[in-house]
Amino acid sequence: MEQTTWEALPPEHREGLRRAVEAREGAYVPYSHFAVGAAVRTGSGAYVQGFNIENAAYPLSMCAERVALYRAYAEGEREFRALYVVADAPRPVPPCGACRQVMAELCPPTMPVILANLRGEVLLTTVEELLPFFFAPDDLLRQEKGGALLGTGEGNGHGPSFEGGEVRSSETGAGPRGGGREGEA
Ligand code: THU
Repeated sequence: MEQTTWEALPPEHREGLRRAVEAREGAYVPYSHFAVGAAVRTGSGAYVQGFNIENAAYPLSMCAERVALYRAYAEGEREFRALYVVADAPRPVPPCGACRQVMAELCPPTMPVILANLRGEVLLTTVEELLPFFFAPDDLLRQEKGGALLGTGEGNGHGPSFEGGEVRSSETGAGPRGGGREGEA
C-alpha cells in the first residue's frame, strides 16, 4: 500500500479518479448520504463508471465498486486494468469485503486499485494486497472417490485450472477469458 497524491499520479490514474469523482455525482444514497464513485479502466482503454445504489431494504444496497465492475462485465469487458474509488471521507475509503471478493474474481491479482478522497489523498494498492487467500474458482474443484479431481473446468484465468482430469496452471495477469460457461459469447 502506497500513500501518494493525486498530482503525483500518472495521467491514466488521474483520469480514472476524475471519472470516479464524476460518477459519484449520480450516487443514490438516501439512507447513508455517503456517496461513493468508482471507475474501472478496461483493456480497450474505456473507463466504466459506477456509484453506490442504496435500497429501503438496507442490505440490498450495492457499492460503487461492484456497480462499476458488473456494469463493465455486462457490457462485454473482460480485461480490467485498474479500479478507481472516491468518497468524501477523512481517508481514502477501504473497499468492503464483498467488493474485494468480486475484484479477486474478475480482475488480475496485480491490478492497481486506486483509492482517494476529495482532499486529494491517495492510496495505491492491488487486488491481491486487499484480499490475499481469497475463495477462488478453483476452490470449487471436488475430490472424487478414486482420488481424481473433479471440477468445473472454469476459472478466472489467474490460478491453476482443471481441464480433462488434470490440474493445469494458467497464465496470470489478465481478466477471465475462455473460462466462461458453454454457450457464452
Ligand atoms: N460503499 C461503497 O459504495 N463503497 C465502499 O468502498 C464503501 C461503502 C457504500 C455502501 C453504502 O451505500 C454506503 O457506502 C455506506 O456504507
